[in-house]
Amino acid sequence: MGFLTFGFLGLLTAAFVTETPMFVFFTAAYPFLYLGNLFVRHKRLASAQPWPVNEKIVLITGASSGIGQSLAHVFAKRGATLILCARREDMLSSVANECRELNSSVKVLTVKCDVTDESDVARLVETIETTYGRLDCLALNAGVSMGEDFAELKDYSVIKKVMDVNYYGCTNVTYKALPLLKKNKKSRILVTNSISGILALPSRSGYAAAKFAVRGFFDSLQAELWKDEIFITLAYPGPVKTEINKNRLGDDPKQLDFTNAITSEECAQELVEGVLRGDKEVIFTRNGKLGRLMEGVFPDLTAYLVDRNARKHLNK
Ligand SMILES: NC(=O)c1ccc[n+]([C@@H]2O[C@H](COP(=O)([O-])OP(=O)(O)OC[C@H]3O[C@@H](n4cnc5c(N)ncnc54)[C@H](OP(=O)(O)O)[C@@H]3O)[C@@H](O)[C@H]2O)c1
Repeated sequence: MGFLTFGFLGLLTAAFVTETPMFVFFTAAYPFLYLGNLFVRHKRLASAQPWPVNEKIVLITGASSGIGQSLAHVFAKRGATLILCARREDMLSSVANECRELNSSVKVLTVKCDVTDESDVARLVETIETTYGRLDCLALNAGVSMGEDFAELKDYSVIKKVMDVNYYGCTNVTYKALPLLKKNKKSRILVTNSISGILALPSRSGYAAAKFAVRGFFDSLQAELWKDEIFITLAYPGPVKTEINKNRLGDDPKQLDFTNAITSEECAQELVEGVLRGDKEVIFTRNGKLGRLMEGVFPDLTAYLVDRNARKHLNK
């Protein structure tokens, strides 16, 4: 709440003191830009339909826990055919069984796969091709975080590992799966990005870099894939109660305070709704939405508020 009030007062103050022609133009043009955006969004969402999820084949990476596990549950309840991948096979089998309990007619395949390993990913995609011959939705969810200030990192390889899983893991799977996705019109790619892909939080330098890279990559790819009618949804969750704190890389990672975090089920539900609609992006929380608006207009104020707010929520 403090963040919101401060942000709002900041916006007002900046509006009074910033008398640049651009600011005046932007303020005057805002309603028209808003309507223009609504129109383009409406066109996108209309062309993304129909997409009957119960006829779709969905691959979820990082499906052994957290948001990926919940994505599997939500898609299973809606009758999609699932391919679940991650490195921990036993956890994947449990998630597959949970899906069958939620929907006895659901088809679930589990494939052990490290998204950073090109031969693993090639095998995964071959399995999908021989089993189903196509893919309708690729949910890129596998990820890992860090929790130390850059200057305090004892092991520099953390930066490379975080980039390897979060960024190259996504591009690797997408590269190999794209021919299957292109077999049908209106295929989907869902990317579990993070609010760190919009607002760079302290103690997350490598993670923010990877998530910003993911955003740039998939915005560019979306521009390339309009002609194939493939719809990419970038999702930017804030804190979600999962194993992510336990799995953070580094010697002494600061954990994220989960007091106000949403559950992975709530998160997955919103992600799947976004995919079904064909949304360009799904942003969670009021702070996330406000931050998204402010970062382009008031970068210094936004950076100050993000740092102040984030440090309050980082625990050792
Ligand atoms: N929790 C949050 O607060 C939050 C907020 C915003 C965004 N996110 C994003 O949400 C996604 C899911 O994270 P989570 O919170 O659900 O954490 P999580 O419970 O730790 O799940 C991470 C998943 O990624 C998989 N994974 C990690 N490295 C992998 C690799 N090399 N190859 C294949 N799978 C791999 C893990 O499976 P295995 O270990 O079995 O391989 C696990 O299934 C991540 O991309 C994360 O950045 C999380």
